[in-house]
Amino acid sequence: MKVVGINSSPRKNSNTDLLLSAALKGAKEKKSETVHLNLYDFEIEYCTACDSCYKTGTCVLMDEFPDIYEIILESDGIILGSPNYINNVTAKMKTLLDRMADTVHCQRLLGKYSAAVSTAGGSGSQEVADYLNHSLFIMGASVVGRVGANLSEGDETFKHAVQSSYKLGMDLADAIALKTSFPDQQKEHEAMLQRMKELVTFRKDDWTYEYEYFKQKKWL
Ligand SMILES: Cc1cc2nc3c(=O)[nH]c(=O)nc-3n(C[C@H](O)[C@H](O)[C@H](O)COP(=O)(O)O)c2cc1C
Repeated sequence: MKVVGINSSPRKNSNTDLLLSAALKGAKEKKSETVHLNLYDFEIEYCTACDSCYKTGTCVLMDEFPDIYEIILESDGIILGSPNYINNVTAKMKTLLDRMADTVHCQRLLGKYSAAVSTAGGSGSQEVADYLNHSLFIMGASVVGRVGANLSEGDETFKHAVQSSYKLGMDLADAIALKTSFPDQQKEHEAMLQRMKELVTFRKDDWTYEYEYFKQKKWL
């Protein structure tokens, strides 16, 4: 079992990263191999919507995105962490997610599990964590849970959030080990795959790589 945690706070000693570290510790406790990435260590360019990944399966940008993407694809569980920046994820996290549009079309995270952690100065951490999970969900991952901590609620609440993150990491590892199925999410994954089949078929003359990928998967 492999779990990757991706922190998108640019700050050293980040609150969000404390939650992420606790979640990874929980996953490790349950015998997962864990990898902890900080996005500030990686150069990631903005997606330019050139459609190259849809057409050829490769990105034209020369940066360090492939290093992160390879780890995501070889992981069974993914934990994303972002502070609330103006009621959303950090720009660096959004930049990473935007580079994964082909992952949505190809539903490459099917069979994987996700979790998310977030902190906010005042409010909105749960909403940001939900957005992170939803992003992985539309790529195919099953969502195990999330922890959001609003610092305005005080030290005790934050301490509790650290404990909850540790438990979240354990729950994620359990879901991977037991191949837990979430029937409601499963239904939505099936509907999403159907939508993607229709989209990729409709664009098959243009998005040749994705159309071939779907045929290879025997989804078409
Ligand atoms: C650019 C920026 C935007 C922020 N926007 C919000 C916000 O909209 N709502 C909020 O409650 N806190 C906001 N904050 C506060 C952070 O979410 C909070 O300090 C968080 O814990 C920082 O996480 P970190 O320690 O992991 O970097 C913002 C902070 C920064 C630097």
